[in-house]
Amino acid sequence: MAVKSDVVSQLEWRYATKKFDSTKKIDKETWNQIEEGLRLTPSSFGLQPWKFVVVTDQKTKEELVSVSMNQSQPADCSHLVVICRVEKLDKEYVEHYIDAIANTRGVTQDSLAGFRDMMVNFLAKKDAEQLQAWASAQCYIALGTLMSTASALHIDNCPMEGFAKNEYDRILKLEERGLRSVVLCALGFRAEDDKYAQAKKVRFPADEVIIHV
Ligand SMILES: Cc1cc2nc3c(=O)[nH]c(=O)nc-3n(C[C@H](O)[C@H](O)[C@H](O)COP(=O)(O)O)c2cc1C
Repeated sequence: MAVKSDVVSQLEWRYATKKFDSTKKIDKETWNQIEEGLRLTPSSFGLQPWKFVVVTDQKTKEELVSVSMNQSQPADCSHLVVICRVEKLDKEYVEHYIDAIANTRGVTQDSLAGFRDMMVNFLAKKDAEQLQAWASAQCYIALGTLMSTASALHIDNCPMEGFAKNEYDRILKLEERGLRSVVLCALGFRAEDDKYAQAKKVRFPADEVIIHV
């Protein structure tokens, strides 16, 4: 029997919010659930090659507008999440993950040697550009999880690629943390007069985009 869920209505409710009500802030309890949703995002091998920078400092949010194609969402949203990829994905990073598996599941490091070597080789075979593309692809999975989690909690959201990555990296001192910005998500509450909230969703019909074999 199919499980009943509100998921489709939540996805219909959400839209890329252009105008946030800057007076409304996401409460702590709700925000904690959103963060937990982000943390639980799956990734290839489970390697989690990301960090999520949550910007709530109003001065910083305002500074980010001019390097976001003058879009107002960074300033007016409640929380701005900058989804970042980890720059250095090497043997040490894999070891860190192997430690986490061993500790969490109570298994020996030795039993994970094959898995570790496979991941180390997978990463070592890639050049810098390929590694960047792979890590960025993982970050977009986090973006999807973030939007779905937020929408399930009736928190408005706007995914954003329209920003200067180098400027974000500089302003948020991301390079110093070994990170590079990939994509953003502004979260909060839609302004009453955001006309995009009324716009009908434009999606190709199911028989055009879904192929059953
Ligand atoms: C990766 C990504 C980047 C986007 N970048 C921006 C952006 O910079 N500014 C913006 O207003 N909307 C942005 N959007 C929103 C899309 O335009 C919007 O999701 C799409 O038109 C579908 O509309 P809907 O989300 O309202 O259903 C982006 C969406 C995605 C998925």
